[in-house]
Amino acid sequence: MLIDTHAHLYLDVFDDDIDAVIQRARDQGVEQVLLPNIDIGSLEALHQLTARDPAYFKPMLGLHPCSVQADYQSQLEALYKNIDLERHIAIGEIGLDYYWDKTFIEEQKDAFRTQVDWARKHELPIVIHSRDSIDDILDILEELRIEGLRGVFHCFTGTVEQAQRIMDLSFYMGLGGVLTFKNSGLDKIVAQLPIEYFVLETDAPYLTPHPYRGKRNESSYVRLVAEKLADTLGVAVQDIEKVTSENAKKLFRL
Ligand code: NI
Repeated sequence: MLIDTHAHLYLDVFDDDIDAVIQRARDQGVEQVLLPNIDIGSLEALHQLTARDPAYFKPMLGLHPCSVQADYQSQLEALYKNIDLERHIAIGEIGLDYYWDKTFIEEQKDAFRTQVDWARKHELPIVIHSRDSIDDILDILEELRIEGLRGVFHCFTGTVEQAQRIMDLSFYMGLGGVLTFKNSGLDKIVAQLPIEYFVLETDAPYLTPHPYRGKRNESSYVRLVAEKLADTLGVAVQDIEKVTSENAKKLFRL
């Protein structure tokens, strides 16, 4: 079995064929799909998709760093009102994005700290978006040192040293399509790390794995990531399925 720990299947690019997308995922052995939120505008569609099959889809609550703007405090307030309306399995996706826009870096940091505090209060894991910002996020988490805080660095693309800091926090690393990209170099980093710290993801509809790169991503393609990880670590795909699913269950208490 496989678990896609990060997919935005509630976005409108899936409106026309979501049933077929779900069927293809099931056909590839994907037994659960976890849904990270983006902002207050995406939450209703996320909950609607969850309601189709609450055993299959697991909702998260959070404000994506790319959605942090001048009005972020009212966004956070509006989001937090929803925390107990559904059984959210994580706070996500949250973090810092220095790649797209650096205008609101201080606001991003403040929103991140606020949401980490939600996670602490509600004993939920955090799902971290860390584009060009892994060290700053690690600095914040190491400074906070919140006992028992769990989480994953979604779409991990860091160095071995950064991976070591992540493992020292007992956090996980999410691996997706980037692992399959030729010349990403990520396979050489991952080959040096223990499988006990990895979960699989797609980030659908983004970051589509080879050989479909450039097309819309979907949860069935998480199998391509599992196959590449098996190849990278020199172990059987079945072992990858077993260990990464166990890791996901432990992290998200599925
Ligand atoms: Ni995402």
